[in-house]
Amino acid sequence: MSNNSSFWKRFLHFATKAKEIEKEDEILLDHDYDGIQELDNVLPPWWLWGFYITVIIAVIYIFQAWYFDSYNQQKELEAELKIAAEEVEAYKKANPELYDTSNLIALTDEASLAEGKVLFETKTCVACHLGDGGGSIGPNLTDEYWILGGGFENVFNTISKGGRPGKGMIAWETVLSTKERQLLASYVLSLKGTTPAAPKAAEGDIWTE
Ligand code: HEC
Repeated sequence: MSNNSSFWKRFLHFATKAKEIEKEDEILLDHDYDGIQELDNVLPPWWLWGFYITVIIAVIYIFQAWYFDSYNQQKELEAELKIAAEEVEAYKKANPELYDTSNLIALTDEASLAEGKVLFETKTCVACHLGDGGGSIGPNLTDEYWILGGGFENVFNTISKGGRPGKGMIAWETVLSTKERQLLASYVLSLKGTTPAAPKAAEGDIWTE
C-alpha cells in the first residue's frame, strides 16, 4: 500500500510538477489580496504536452485541409457516398425482384401456392374475396372475368397498386413485400377454374392471354 501510494505520488508529481506543500514558500508571490495569496506554479506537464500536441496537429491539419489535395472533408464525404452508392447497387443486384418487377412470373410449384394460400387467408384477402375466392365485397377471383385485367402481370399490379378508387381494394405494396405479392398473385391465378361454394356473378371482361 505504501509502495503504491508513493508510486502514485511520484506519478502525480511527474504529471503536475506541483510544489510540495512544505516548499510552497519558494513560489509564493508577494501579492496579497486581503489575505488571499497566489502560488507561481509551473504549467502542469500533462496539460502543457496536450497543448503542444494540439498545436502540432493544428499545423498538420491546416496544410492537409488547405494546401494538399490529398484529403479533406469534401473528399471524405464523396468517398463515403460512392461506397454507399456501390452498396445500394450491390443490394439491388442481389435482390432484383425488389426493384424490377417486370421479370416476375407466376409461381406454380406446390410449396409457393401453399404459401400464397396462407397469405391469402392471413392478410385479410379472405374478408372480401372469401376463402375459396368466390367473392363478396371483392369480385370472384376464380372465373375468367377480370375487372382490372387477368394474367400474372395485371393481377400482380392490381394487388400492388390497388383497384379503382373507392372500390375497397387497397394498394398492398406498402403492406406486403414483393415476394408476398408475387405469391398472392400466383395463388389467385391458381384459383381459376375452381368451384367456390357461392360464386359471385362475373364482373369485368373475359381475359385471354
Ligand atoms: C376491403 C376488401 C378487400 C380486401 C381486403 C382485398 N380486396 Fe381485392 N378487391 C376488392 C375489390 C372491391 C376489388 C375490385 C376493385 C375494382 O373494382 O377496382 C378487388 C379486386 C381484386 C383483384 C382484381 C380482380 C379483378 O377482377 O380484376 C385481385 C386480384 C384482388 N382483389 C386480390 C386481392 C388480394 C390478393 C387481397 C389480399 C392481399 C385482396 N384482394 C384484399 C376488395 C378487397
